Amino acid sequence: MTETLAPDDAGLARAAALLAGGQLVAFPTETVYGLGGDARSDIAVARIFEAKGRPRFNPLIVHLPDLEAARSVAVFDALAERVASAFWPGPLTLVLPLRPSARLSPLVTADLPSVAIRVPEHPVAHRLLRAFGGPVAAPSANPSGKVSPTRADHVLAGLTDRIAAVVDGGACAVGLESTILGLVGEPQILRPGGIPAEALEACLGHPLASGGDSAKPSAPGQLLSHYAPAAPIRLNATRTEPDEFWLGFGPKAAKADLNLSETGDLVEAAANLFHYLREADARAKGPIAISPIPEKGLGRAINDRLRRAAAPRS
Ligand code: TXA
Ligand code: MG
Repeated sequence: MTETLAPDDAGLARAAALLAGGQLVAFPTETVYGLGGDARSDIAVARIFEAKGRPRFNPLIVHLPDLEAARSVAVFDALAERVASAFWPGPLTLVLPLRPSARLSPLVTADLPSVAIRVPEHPVAHRLLRAFGGPVAAPSANPSGKVSPTRADHVLAGLTDRIAAVVDGGACAVGLESTILGLVGEPQILRPGGIPAEALEACLGHPLASGGDSAKPSAPGQLLSHYAPAAPIRLNATRTEPDEFWLGFGPKAAKADLNLSETGDLVEAAANLFHYLREADARAKGPIAISPIPEKGLGRAINDRLRRAAAPRS
């Protein structure tokens, strides 16, 4: 039986105790719900892969309460310090050299000499990380290849009885996974996400390469078919067929079945994206037709997720 815990002191104490016992607890972050396990425990991390039905041991993001705790897990150079200070807490993950003294389970890093770390902004995530007092590995709390969860009931729909508990902290504000910035070697965006590339480029002072090579994925978000609903998806739809469910964007889509943002606000669209994909999937009698989304700011991350949702299924 998966427990649903309130985001209060008692609920978070229970969640922290479950994590300390090697159990899995889903919790809200500002991006999506994470499926948390003790990043130092091989058993806990193996349970994450098992619960998600992940086909391969991709490396996971390690969550920490603050920059100081992050420094005990990874090696920060001056550039990493600058970016972390600018964007943490927040929806940015940094890939940095692993500090061996962190004693993470090698399953977390897939035995790489680097580690992906993030300091989330959500107050419930922050309090849970403090209460637990150790690094928490957390991929999105959904079965592998399915739409990421932005509400506790999404988590339960996919993982009931596969995990010990979920902390219910309501809807996630950002609604897209974090941006992953690789800082081992040349700075590189490994996955677009909740922090727009433009904001990172402004902080770094130069344009960024983006390392999205779906043939050789270093991030599971880079597997081509991912975030997949059951219904077929048609992108950049400027008009729709009678049998299609129309997932619209902007004022031109006033007649859409659902509109990601009637005013054309990309932040609102990101926050609604995964929830509306689920709802469209439940209501569609045929394909889901999706309006064009501008390729700027958070629109790039939204389009990245939509292209994966529309990709041929393996
Ligand atoms: O918003 C998020 O980032 C969510 C919430 C729960 O925090 N988490 C999330 O984690 O999306 P996950 O495990 O699904 O994504 C981890 C990504 C993977 O794509 C993985 O390949 C990449 O981070 N990654 C992890 N370690 C890496 C490393 N050492 N080098 C390159 N990529 C790495
Ligand atoms: Mg995921």
